[in-house]
Amino acid sequence: MKGLILSGGKGTRLYPLTYTRAKQLIPVANKPVLIRVIESIRAAGIVEIGIVIGQTGPEIREAVGDGSRWGVRITYIEQPSPDGLAHAVKIAADFLGDERFVMFLGDNVIEGGISKLIADFANSGWNSQIVLKEVANPSAFGVAKLRDDGKIERLIEKPKDPPSNLALVGIYMFDANILKAVHAIKPSWRNELEITDAIQWLIDQGYTVMPHVHEGWWIDTGKPTDMLEANACVLDELKPHIDPTAVIEDSEVDRRVTVEAGARIINSIVHGPTIIGEHTVIENAYVGPYTSIYHHVQVLNCEIERCIVLEHADIRDLGARLGNSLIGRNASIKRKQRKPSTITMNLADHSSVWLV
Ligand code: TTP
Repeated sequence: MKGLILSGGKGTRLYPLTYTRAKQLIPVANKPVLIRVIESIRAAGIVEIGIVIGQTGPEIREAVGDGSRWGVRITYIEQPSPDGLAHAVKIAADFLGDERFVMFLGDNVIEGGISKLIADFANSGWNSQIVLKEVANPSAFGVAKLRDDGKIERLIEKPKDPPSNLALVGIYMFDANILKAVHAIKPSWRNELEITDAIQWLIDQGYTVMPHVHEGWWIDTGKPTDMLEANACVLDELKPHIDPTAVIEDSEVDRRVTVEAGARIINSIVHGPTIIGEHTVIENAYVGPYTSIYHHVQVLNCEIERCIVLEHADIRDLGARLGNSLIGRNASIKRKQRKPSTITMNLADHSSVWLV
């Protein structure tokens, strides 16, 4: 089998972070989501992986390279504009050939990996397997209506009046018949070639599409709150370790904390699950649960919890605890030392600030 990862798109819901970084490269628990996806496909025994890239292609190529670091071979497939998930399959036809493949959205995180799902599909005669998950807000997703015998009756993209609470998770398995489907369908009202329409075409033509209902957590990291939630879920699963080159002095660091190489924690309290990145400095600070601080960050004289902080950020001398926040690369949050005591900001387009 082959793997196809979709890593194009615009990521508009994650502005401003995604002005300057591909959304699939934003880290959760200090590892980009795209790398987590590559690792889970590799863990299922697949080494031939195509990555569909768009505007952010150069950055993705630089981060992933030829894939040898993860024991896989990467082929890049350029998508001129994000014309839909089925369009991405269409342009990947040469790479896919007539092999069976798993398609994984490059911004999705799922509990427990996909090895069992891939094995079930590889050993079956099914034409497709899709993964479903019960969700509270099905209108935001592609939704499946199942028949009494458990087979799929129909799929609807973002229905106003959802026929079930079973959303399509961003992991799909197909044989080569999907290529006929993506050529047969027409663009939707939002002018995209929808993968739900392509799968519906398979069902209508009598091909076997098996549903699998996933019991663990699954997060589509579309919005900032989803990123924080995915970060919390992955931190909960992380096996903590403290790198021997890390320095911890006069501090209380509990057993659910991971501290990476060269990090320094001085006169501080750190409560896990939390990860402190390489060469980051935490001093006179409190770092609370569900926080991921990436490399070369400074957190001085302040309190922070349930945040994702990207590399080279500088957070210091805050009067209130920073929580539920995404802080971008090289961002700086400081207490003003001089009068007048105004709130002063230098914000990127589409930034949000919540004051107390
Ligand atoms: P989406 O989250 O649907 O789209 P997006 O990344 O453009 O985000 P936003 O709505 O915030 O602007 O995409 C899901 C994944 O599939 C994501 O990893 C991007 C990728 N994708 C493609 O590679 N090609 C496409 O044509 C589309 C629509 C998405």
